[in-house]
Amino acid sequence: MKYLVFETKKEASKEAYKILKSLIDENSTLGLATGSTPTDLYEEMIKDHKEGNFSYKNIKSYNLDEYVGISYDHPESYHKFMDVNLFDHIDIDKNNTHIPDASAENLDQALENYQNELNNTIIDVQILGLGGNGHIGFNEPGTPFNSGVHVIDLKEETIKANSRFFNNDVNLVPKQAVTMGINDIMKAKHIILLAFGKEKQTAIKNLIDSDIVDESIPCTVLKKHPSVYVLVDKEADFRN
Ligand code: F6R
Repeated sequence: MKYLVFETKKEASKEAYKILKSLIDENSTLGLATGSTPTDLYEEMIKDHKEGNFSYKNIKSYNLDEYVGISYDHPESYHKFMDVNLFDHIDIDKNNTHIPDASAENLDQALENYQNELNNTIIDVQILGLGGNGHIGFNEPGTPFNSGVHVIDLKEETIKANSRFFNNDVNLVPKQAVTMGINDIMKAKHIILLAFGKEKQTAIKNLIDSDIVDESIPCTVLKKHPSVYVLVDKEADFRN
């Protein structure tokens, strides 16, 4: 595992993009995350694309998760997030982008479909953010390391943290999400995890500065993966 600390989110994201670009080509498959963490990385991707240096025409993507119970039109749906923050600004074919369909009438079928798609794919690089409680994707503490695509009940602390996107009202935050499982994430060839802000410090300490590998802190599973890059800002650095 490589651990890199930067002054700012912007600097970390620039480096993350350099690492990403060194690991992929224009036919690769990406695993993508949402939330506040990857936004500057997506800006770097867009900038480089607009400068003519990288085409996404043949790139495929799979997103980690989606809230249950909000439709595409909701400004905080992760599907919408991906269009607004990345897909609408690059030449990716949206038929090649995949996001769990968490508002499907038959949710069990939607889970099975997403699992099948993931089983037939090799993700070259998985981008991850990190929950303050150590979640990756929406695999909350206690999720089995061998889990596949599933519906998760979001923990109270996650609902509280994400209420900042929902008028600071926890009642407006969806209580469930569909997420790739930990086993799906671990199958990626390479993983780039980003973490910014002091809320992430404890999870980073558990990941970088401990021997813990335990389902109660989901990110600790990454110690078993052969190719992980962890990039943080100084607030998230465990030594601070
Ligand atoms: C989002 C995801 C989550 C977030 C995490 C951190 O697709 O998988 O694990 O990465 O909740 O959220 P932010 O980036 O908003 O701090």
